[in-house]
Amino acid sequence: MTVSNNVGDWLDIGPVSQISPGNARTLPVRGGEEIAIFHTLDNQFYALVNKCPHKQGPLSQGIVHGNVVACPLHNWNISLKSGEALGSDEGCVPTVPLKVDAGRIYLLREAVIPSRTARKAA
Ligand code: FES
Repeated sequence: MTVSNNVGDWLDIGPVSQISPGNARTLPVRGGEEIAIFHTLDNQFYALVNKCPHKQGPLSQGIVHGNVVACPLHNWNISLKSGEALGSDEGCVPTVPLKVDAGRIYLLREAVIPSRTARKAA
């Protein structure tokens, strides 16, 4: 079966089965920020820039609990829904719109690749 990787403004990044519940994978972006895609234990998927708002720890290596990831460096809790630091910590990491359709994960193209002009010029 062939599945297009260009469905409108959404990037097909592969099947949901590539990320087991409670884990994350990263998506390198040429000329942009690496994205972390999370699969929660209650079967939700979220995507964030893979940099903690504290000191840029790799959130993809953190522990997922509920809809939160604990940063592996200093244990800040970051909301997977909003990208915001929770509790008394302050800061926010950009989120990337994500959808799941027919067992595949899609990211909003414009959020992953913000400037097509810049890419062409590179
Ligand atoms: S870098 Fe994430 S808590 Fe410090």
